[in-house]
Amino acid sequence: MAAVRKIIIDTDPGQDDAVAILLALASPEFDILGITAVAGNVPLTLTSKNALKICELAGKRDTRVFAGASRPLMRTLVTAEEVHGKTGLDGPDLPEPTMKLEAQHAVDFIVDTLMGEEPDTVTLCPLGPLTNVALALIREPRIAPRIKEIVLMGGGFFEGGNVTPAAEFNIFVDPHAADVVLRAGIPVVMMPLDVTHKALTTARRVERFRSMGTAVGTATAELLDFFERFDEQKYGTDGGPLHDPCVIAYLIRPELFSGRQCNVSVETMSELTMGMTVIDWWGVSDRPKNALVMRDIDHEGFFDLLSERLARL
Ligand code: RIB
Ligand code: CA
Repeated sequence: MAAVRKIIIDTDPGQDDAVAILLALASPEFDILGITAVAGNVPLTLTSKNALKICELAGKRDTRVFAGASRPLMRTLVTAEEVHGKTGLDGPDLPEPTMKLEAQHAVDFIVDTLMGEEPDTVTLCPLGPLTNVALALIREPRIAPRIKEIVLMGGGFFEGGNVTPAAEFNIFVDPHAADVVLRAGIPVVMMPLDVTHKALTTARRVERFRSMGTAVGTATAELLDFFERFDEQKYGTDGGPLHDPCVIAYLIRPELFSGRQCNVSVETMSELTMGMTVIDWWGVSDRPKNALVMRDIDHEGFFDLLSERLARL
Protein backbone atom coordinates (compact mmCIF):
# COMPACT_ATOMS: atom_id res chain seq x y z
CA MET A 1 0.00 0.00 0.00
CA ALA A 2 1.18 3.53 -0.74
CA ALA A 3 2.46 5.56 2.21
CA VAL A 4 -0.24 6.78 4.57
CA ARG A 5 -1.32 10.28 3.58
CA LYS A 6 -1.64 12.95 6.27
CA ILE A 7 -4.81 14.97 5.77
CA ILE A 8 -6.82 17.74 7.41
CA ILE A 9 -10.52 17.71 6.48
CA ASP A 10 -12.11 21.19 6.56
CA THR A 11 -15.86 20.82 6.50
CA ASP A 12 -19.39 22.21 7.00
CA PRO A 13 -21.46 19.04 7.70
CA GLY A 14 -23.84 18.69 5.79
CA GLN A 15 -24.96 15.21 4.79
CA ASP A 16 -22.51 14.89 1.91
CA ASP A 17 -19.68 16.13 4.15
CA ALA A 18 -20.71 13.39 6.60
CA VAL A 19 -20.32 10.67 3.97
CA ALA A 20 -16.93 12.10 2.97
CA ILE A 21 -15.75 12.06 6.60
CA LEU A 22 -17.03 8.48 7.06
CA LEU A 23 -15.15 7.41 3.92
CA ALA A 24 -11.94 8.97 5.25
CA LEU A 25 -12.39 7.46 8.73
CA ALA A 26 -12.92 4.02 7.16
CA SER A 27 -9.84 4.18 4.92
CA PRO A 28 -6.39 3.05 6.08
CA GLU A 29 -4.73 5.23 3.46
CA PHE A 30 -5.17 8.26 5.74
CA ASP A 31 -3.70 9.67 8.90
CA ILE A 32 -6.41 12.23 9.72
CA LEU A 33 -4.50 14.86 11.68
CA GLY A 34 -7.71 16.75 12.42
CA ILE A 35 -11.15 17.78 11.25
CA THR A 36 -11.76 21.54 11.16
CA ALA A 37 -15.31 22.89 11.06
CA VAL A 38 -16.35 26.03 9.21
CA ALA A 39 -19.65 27.92 8.91
CA GLY A 40 -21.43 27.02 5.68
CA ASN A 41 -24.38 24.70 5.23
CA VAL A 42 -25.45 25.64 8.77
CA PRO A 43 -23.85 27.93 11.40
CA LEU A 44 -20.52 26.95 13.00
CA THR A 45 -22.08 25.79 16.27
CA LEU A 46 -23.90 23.12 14.27
CA THR A 47 -21.18 22.22 11.75
CA SER A 48 -18.71 21.66 14.60
CA LYS A 49 -21.24 19.59 16.60
CA ASN A 50 -22.11 17.61 13.47
CA ALA A 51 -18.45 16.76 12.90
CA LEU A 52 -18.33 15.29 16.42
CA LYS A 53 -21.54 13.32 15.80
CA ILE A 54 -20.06 11.78 12.63
CA CYS A 55 -16.84 10.73 14.39
CA GLU A 56 -18.91 9.07 17.15
CA LEU A 57 -21.13 7.35 14.57
CA ALA A 58 -17.95 5.91 13.02
CA GLY A 59 -16.66 4.83 16.44
CA LYS A 60 -13.58 7.05 15.97
CA ARG A 61 -13.75 8.99 19.21
CA ASP A 62 -10.04 9.85 19.22
CA THR A 63 -10.42 12.05 16.15
CA ARG A 64 -9.50 15.66 16.88
CA VAL A 65 -12.21 18.16 15.88
CA PHE A 66 -11.67 21.94 15.88
CA ALA A 67 -14.10 24.83 15.42
CA GLY A 68 -13.03 27.52 12.97
CA ALA A 69 -14.50 30.58 11.28
CA SER A 70 -18.07 31.54 12.14
CA ARG A 71 -18.58 33.64 8.98
CA PRO A 72 -16.94 34.44 5.63
CA LEU A 73 -14.05 36.91 5.30
CA MET A 74 -16.10 39.80 3.91
CA ARG A 75 -19.68 38.70 3.23
CA THR A 76 -22.58 37.86 5.50
CA LEU A 77 -22.96 34.12 6.06
CA VAL A 78 -25.42 32.38 3.73
CA THR A 79 -26.56 28.93 4.94
CA ALA A 80 -28.49 26.08 3.27
CA GLU A 81 -31.01 24.68 5.76
CA GLU A 82 -33.42 24.12 2.88
CA VAL A 83 -31.03 21.45 1.61
CA HIS A 84 -29.54 20.03 4.81
CA GLY A 85 -32.33 20.64 7.32
CA LYS A 86 -32.30 22.73 10.48
CA THR A 87 -29.59 20.62 12.17
CA GLY A 88 -27.49 20.35 9.02
CA LEU A 89 -27.60 16.57 9.44
CA ASP A 90 -31.33 15.89 9.12
CA GLY A 91 -32.26 12.31 8.22
CA PRO A 92 -30.96 9.98 10.94
CA ASP A 93 -31.57 10.75 14.59
CA LEU A 94 -27.95 10.93 15.76
CA PRO A 95 -27.39 11.36 19.52
CA GLU A 96 -25.89 14.48 21.04
CA PRO A 97 -22.10 13.99 20.95
CA THR A 98 -20.16 13.20 24.13
CA MET A 99 -16.84 13.94 22.35
CA LYS A 100 -15.57 17.46 22.96
CA LEU A 101 -14.18 20.01 20.53
CA GLU A 102 -10.48 20.82 20.87
CA ALA A 103 -9.82 24.11 22.63
CA GLN A 104 -7.50 25.37 19.88
CA HIS A 105 -9.03 27.41 17.04
CA ALA A 106 -9.12 25.54 13.72
CA VAL A 107 -7.06 28.21 11.94
CA ASP A 108 -4.30 27.98 14.57
CA PHE A 109 -4.42 24.18 14.32
CA ILE A 110 -3.98 24.34 10.54
CA VAL A 111 -1.05 26.77 10.86
CA ASP A 112 0.66 24.89 13.71
CA THR A 113 0.23 21.53 11.98
CA LEU A 114 1.66 22.74 8.68
CA MET A 115 4.58 24.48 10.41
CA GLY A 116 5.24 21.39 12.57
CA GLU A 117 4.90 18.56 10.02
CA GLU A 118 7.51 17.84 7.35
CA PRO A 119 7.00 20.12 4.35
CA ASP A 120 5.05 18.61 1.43
CA THR A 121 3.45 15.90 3.57
CA VAL A 122 0.06 17.35 4.59
CA THR A 123 -2.95 17.50 2.23
CA LEU A 124 -5.85 19.86 2.93
CA CYS A 125 -9.34 18.57 2.03
CA PRO A 126 -11.79 21.50 2.10
CA LEU A 127 -15.42 20.40 1.73
CA GLY A 128 -17.09 23.74 2.50
CA PRO A 129 -16.44 27.48 2.19
CA LEU A 130 -12.68 28.17 2.18
CA THR A 131 -12.70 30.67 5.07
CA ASN A 132 -10.51 28.62 7.45
CA VAL A 133 -7.93 27.84 4.75
CA ALA A 134 -7.75 31.46 3.61
CA LEU A 135 -7.41 32.72 7.20
CA ALA A 136 -4.57 30.25 7.82
CA LEU A 137 -2.77 31.49 4.68
CA ILE A 138 -3.25 35.10 5.74
CA ARG A 139 -2.20 34.40 9.34
CA GLU A 140 0.96 32.52 8.27
CA PRO A 141 1.94 32.78 4.58
CA ARG A 142 4.88 30.44 5.23
CA ILE A 143 2.44 27.49 5.26
CA ALA A 144 1.72 27.85 1.51
CA PRO A 145 4.87 26.10 0.20
CA ARG A 146 4.57 23.47 2.95
CA ILE A 147 1.14 22.22 1.80
CA LYS A 148 1.39 19.06 -0.34
CA GLU A 149 -1.84 19.82 -2.17
CA ILE A 150 -5.37 21.08 -1.63
CA VAL A 151 -8.14 18.78 -2.91
CA LEU A 152 -11.39 20.71 -2.65
CA MET A 153 -15.04 20.44 -3.56
CA GLY A 154 -16.29 23.69 -5.02
CA GLY A 155 -17.05 25.70 -8.11
CA GLY A 156 -18.65 24.82 -11.40
CA PHE A 157 -18.52 25.94 -14.99
CA PHE A 158 -20.30 23.88 -17.66
CA GLU A 159 -22.94 22.96 -15.06
CA GLY A 160 -23.45 26.59 -13.97
CA GLY A 161 -24.22 27.22 -10.33
CA ASN A 162 -26.42 25.63 -7.66
CA VAL A 163 -27.01 28.61 -5.38
CA THR A 164 -27.16 31.27 -8.11
CA PRO A 165 -27.20 30.68 -11.87
CA ALA A 166 -23.45 31.41 -11.83
CA ALA A 167 -22.06 30.16 -8.51
CA GLU A 168 -21.66 26.94 -6.55
CA PHE A 169 -22.46 27.19 -2.80
CA ASN A 170 -19.00 26.75 -1.21
CA ILE A 171 -17.42 29.41 -3.40
CA PHE A 172 -20.48 31.69 -3.30
CA VAL A 173 -20.50 31.76 0.52
CA ASP A 174 -16.89 32.99 0.65
CA PRO A 175 -15.61 34.06 -2.78
CA HIS A 176 -12.83 36.16 -1.24
CA ALA A 177 -11.47 33.15 0.62
CA ALA A 178 -11.57 31.10 -2.59
CA ASP A 179 -9.66 33.89 -4.35
CA VAL A 180 -6.95 33.85 -1.64
CA VAL A 181 -6.57 30.07 -1.93
CA LEU A 182 -6.53 29.96 -5.75
CA ARG A 183 -3.90 32.70 -5.93
CA ALA A 184 -1.60 31.13 -3.30
CA GLY A 185 0.45 29.05 -5.77
CA ILE A 186 -0.48 25.79 -4.02
CA PRO A 187 -1.25 22.66 -6.10
CA VAL A 188 -5.06 22.47 -6.17
CA VAL A 189 -7.31 19.63 -7.34
CA MET A 190 -10.86 20.89 -7.81
CA MET A 191 -14.07 18.84 -7.75
CA PRO A 192 -16.66 21.20 -9.30
CA LEU A 193 -20.34 20.54 -9.95
CA ASP A 194 -19.29 19.45 -13.44
CA VAL A 195 -18.02 16.21 -11.93
CA THR A 196 -20.10 15.87 -8.75
CA HIS A 197 -23.35 16.10 -10.71
CA LYS A 198 -22.32 12.78 -12.31
CA ALA A 199 -22.23 11.02 -8.92
CA LEU A 200 -25.93 10.52 -8.23
CA THR A 201 -27.31 8.75 -5.17
CA THR A 202 -29.73 6.56 -7.12
CA ALA A 203 -32.24 4.44 -5.20
CA ARG A 204 -30.22 1.28 -5.95
CA ARG A 205 -27.05 2.86 -4.55
CA VAL A 206 -28.77 4.13 -1.39
CA GLU A 207 -30.20 0.64 -0.79
CA ARG A 208 -26.64 -0.76 -0.86
CA PHE A 209 -25.92 1.33 2.23
CA ARG A 210 -29.20 0.48 3.96
CA SER A 211 -28.77 -3.25 3.34
CA MET A 212 -25.44 -3.25 5.21
CA GLY A 213 -27.50 -3.55 8.38
CA THR A 214 -24.91 -1.51 10.31
CA ALA A 215 -25.37 1.76 12.22
CA VAL A 216 -23.17 3.51 9.64
CA GLY A 217 -24.93 1.96 6.65
CA THR A 218 -28.39 2.77 7.96
CA ALA A 219 -27.43 6.33 8.97
CA THR A 220 -25.80 6.91 5.57
CA ALA A 221 -28.97 5.79 3.79
CA GLU A 222 -31.06 8.06 6.01
CA LEU A 223 -28.69 11.00 5.43
CA LEU A 224 -28.97 10.50 1.67
CA ASP A 225 -32.74 9.96 1.74
CA PHE A 226 -33.06 13.42 3.27
CA PHE A 227 -30.26 15.15 1.36
CA GLU A 228 -31.22 14.00 -2.14
CA ARG A 229 -34.87 15.09 -2.06
CA PHE A 230 -33.98 18.77 -2.68
CA ASP A 231 -31.82 18.06 -5.72
CA GLU A 232 -34.11 15.35 -7.12
CA GLN A 233 -36.86 17.98 -7.14
CA LYS A 234 -34.57 20.60 -8.73
CA TYR A 235 -32.88 18.42 -11.35
CA GLY A 236 -35.58 15.79 -11.89
CA THR A 237 -33.00 13.03 -11.41
CA ASP A 238 -32.98 9.65 -9.63
CA GLY A 239 -30.91 10.70 -6.66
CA GLY A 240 -28.90 13.82 -5.92
CA PRO A 241 -25.24 14.66 -6.55
CA LEU A 242 -22.93 13.34 -3.82
CA HIS A 243 -20.44 16.21 -3.86
CA ASP A 244 -17.95 16.04 -0.98
CA PRO A 245 -16.98 12.32 -0.98
CA CYS A 246 -15.42 12.93 -4.44
CA VAL A 247 -12.55 14.69 -2.64
CA ILE A 248 -11.72 11.70 -0.43
CA ALA A 249 -12.34 9.13 -3.18
CA TYR A 250 -9.84 10.98 -5.40
CA LEU A 251 -7.13 10.58 -2.76
CA ILE A 252 -7.83 6.83 -2.53
CA ARG A 253 -8.40 6.08 -6.24
CA PRO A 254 -7.44 9.07 -8.43
CA GLU A 255 -8.01 6.95 -11.54
CA LEU A 256 -11.76 7.24 -10.91
CA PHE A 257 -11.53 10.86 -12.07
CA SER A 258 -10.34 12.73 -15.13
CA GLY A 259 -9.88 16.39 -15.92
CA ARG A 260 -7.26 18.91 -16.96
CA GLN A 261 -4.95 21.60 -15.60
CA CYS A 262 -6.68 24.98 -16.06
CA ASN A 263 -6.80 28.49 -14.79
CA VAL A 264 -9.60 28.99 -12.30
CA SER A 265 -10.48 32.57 -11.31
CA VAL A 266 -13.23 33.68 -8.94
CA GLU A 267 -15.64 36.58 -9.37
CA THR A 268 -15.53 38.79 -6.26
CA MET A 269 -16.95 42.08 -7.61
CA SER A 270 -20.18 41.56 -9.58
CA GLU A 271 -23.34 40.76 -7.60
CA LEU A 272 -24.73 39.02 -10.72
CA THR A 273 -21.87 36.50 -10.92
CA MET A 274 -20.48 36.71 -7.36
CA GLY A 275 -18.55 33.51 -6.53
CA MET A 276 -18.54 32.24 -10.11
CA THR A 277 -15.49 30.08 -10.90
CA VAL A 278 -14.36 31.11 -14.36
CA ILE A 279 -12.61 27.94 -15.58
CA ASP A 280 -10.41 28.48 -18.66
CA TRP A 281 -11.02 24.89 -19.89
CA TRP A 282 -9.93 25.70 -23.47
CA GLY A 283 -6.80 27.62 -22.42
CA VAL A 284 -7.75 30.81 -24.22
CA SER A 285 -6.20 33.09 -21.59
CA ASP A 286 -2.61 33.41 -20.42
CA ARG A 287 -3.68 33.14 -16.79
CA PRO A 288 -1.70 30.59 -14.73
CA LYS A 289 -3.06 27.04 -14.77
CA ASN A 290 -3.59 26.94 -11.00
CA ALA A 291 -5.88 23.91 -10.63
CA LEU A 292 -6.41 20.36 -11.87
CA VAL A 293 -10.13 20.61 -12.65
CA MET A 294 -12.03 17.32 -12.69
CA ARG A 295 -14.89 16.88 -15.14
CA ASP A 296 -15.49 13.12 -15.36
CA ILE A 297 -15.93 10.30 -12.86
CA ASP A 298 -16.33 6.53 -12.99
CA HIS A 299 -19.47 6.81 -10.86
CA GLU A 300 -20.02 3.06 -10.61
CA GLY A 301 -16.47 2.65 -9.30
CA PHE A 302 -16.99 5.60 -6.97
CA PHE A 303 -20.06 4.06 -5.30
CA ASP A 304 -18.38 0.63 -5.22
CA LEU A 305 -15.52 2.22 -3.26
CA LEU A 306 -17.92 4.04 -0.95
CA SER A 307 -19.94 0.88 -0.24
CA GLU A 308 -16.86 -1.29 0.29
CA ARG A 309 -15.27 1.19 2.69
CA LEU A 310 -18.33 2.22 4.71
CA ALA A 311 -19.09 -1.47 5.29
CA ARG A 312 -15.85 -1.60 7.29
CA LEU A 313 -17.20 0.77 9.98
O1 RIB B 1 -22.40 22.93 -3.58
C1 RIB B 1 -22.19 21.74 -2.85
C2 RIB B 1 -21.36 22.00 -1.64
O2 RIB B 1 -22.02 22.93 -0.79
C3 RIB B 1 -21.13 20.75 -0.79
O3 RIB B 1 -19.90 20.84 -0.14
C4 RIB B 1 -22.24 20.83 0.21
O4 RIB B 1 -21.92 20.16 1.43
C5 RIB B 1 -22.31 22.30 0.45
O5 RIB B 1 -21.29 22.64 1.39
CA1 CA C 1 -19.79 20.67 2.30
